[in-house]
Amino acid sequence: MATGVPPTTSINNTILNHNNKKRSSDNEDYGYNSMIITKKAAIAAKEDPVAALASARHEFGEHGGVNMSIEASATFTVMEPETMRRLFSGELGPDRDYFIYSRHFNPTVLNLGRLMAALEGTEAAYCTASGMSAISSVLLQLVGAGGHIVASQTLYGGTHALLTHFLPRTSGINTTFVDICDHAAIKAAIVEGMTKVVYFESVSNPTLTVADIPEVCKIAREKGVIVVVDNTFAPVVISPARLGADVVVHSISKYISGGADIIAGAVCGPASLLNSMMDLHQGALMLLGPTMNAKVAFELSERLPHLGLRMKEHCARALEFAKRMKKLGLKVIYPGLEDHPQHELLKSICSQEYGYGGILCVDMETEERANRLMYQLQNCTQFGFMAVSLGYYETLMSCSGSSTSSEMSEEEKARAGISPGLVRMSIGYTGTLEQKWAQFEKALGKLQDVKFSVRHK
Ligand SMILES: Cc1ncc(COP(=O)(O)O)c(C=O)c1O
Repeated sequence: MATGVPPTTSINNTILNHNNKKRSSDNEDYGYNSMIITKKAAIAAKEDPVAALASARHEFGEHGGVNMSIEASATFTVMEPETMRRLFSGELGPDRDYFIYSRHFNPTVLNLGRLMAALEGTEAAYCTASGMSAISSVLLQLVGAGGHIVASQTLYGGTHALLTHFLPRTSGINTTFVDICDHAAIKAAIVEGMTKVVYFESVSNPTLTVADIPEVCKIAREKGVIVVVDNTFAPVVISPARLGADVVVHSISKYISGGADIIAGAVCGPASLLNSMMDLHQGALMLLGPTMNAKVAFELSERLPHLGLRMKEHCARALEFAKRMKKLGLKVIYPGLEDHPQHELLKSICSQEYGYGGILCVDMETEERANRLMYQLQNCTQFGFMAVSLGYYETLMSCSGSSTSSEMSEEEKARAGISPGLVRMSIGYTGTLEQKWAQFEKALGKLQDVKFSVRHK
């Protein structure tokens, strides 16, 4: 029996000591192709993500500290030389508290993985050095050389470049891009026997298109294709795996970190997938080595407990600002607004008590107008910072077409609906809401002083 990462969903609020020898037999009726889940996992699947996080195993420190100890070791020792052979043969593994080397499983990173699995309602998870390494590793693992992916045409620019340029060149993996809202197009693009993965973002970067996850999963399942969802924009708000997705990936660098100080990622999915990714001979994580450092994993595990609170505030402010910006006549894109094309869909799939997401876009139509607005907002009224990324406690603003989506051609951007003047705002929660709104209005007023006209609907 192969050993490896234990399934989190079977561990319920248990304090396990260092020498816990839990066997991974619970793993055996899981499988990412078979879609079989155990009763316990099915119950966990319905759970609120924050409740699931609170029910996850709490790791205490070696001396009884409320916080876990950091296993800051690159390598691990054994008592008997024979144990080493058993480790390398896969007979002994992390499910029995045996570790080899931290490019393979590390206990502190594994603990963060358990929290991520609880958050996303997946059987297991493991964390990586970046969101891009999580995405590239899982795609390379699931899609063999010459394989085919069906992906949304609206994706983070780096992922779009990976699928458009890097994977075809290095692995002969080709992608057909579709409008993720066009379910007939998804069906038509799947080539039976060739297509291994349908890939999309739960809420797309930067256009904020919301994918109908249950419906896309149904289409993929009928065709035997694995669904991988990037949930970077909507942790807690949307739980793709609870809606049927097989694998969820994250750029932890964003909301989950919340501090804009760490680059990190995660792959959340079946234990069998995570174990295959750590295989000594065939595993993309083990062999490409995008390892997360144990000290980073510790830092991040201290931030997950307040992710739900942070998301609530990001979302509440984004909704209020979106409503007020719309009232001023700005062209606002925010899935929490009733006029957003997928507002009803989002309501039906999200955990509404957390809100509708912390990101909104204002379409200023030209890059020049977008830049003038951002200049005022940063340099004159301190509303936010001109910077890429998102999920920070301060508001971050960028003109997507010339920054995080600049990898796409003009034609690809037009197809994805990225206007040259689209300003993406990741709404922060520092200061008071009224203080921040006054800063926004003041900046807008300055633009109007110089005969800048905002398009009125
Ligand atoms: C939706 C999305 N996925 C993935 C990534 C890549 O993550 P990272 O920068 O952590 O590699 C980004 C980065 O901006 C993103 O916005």
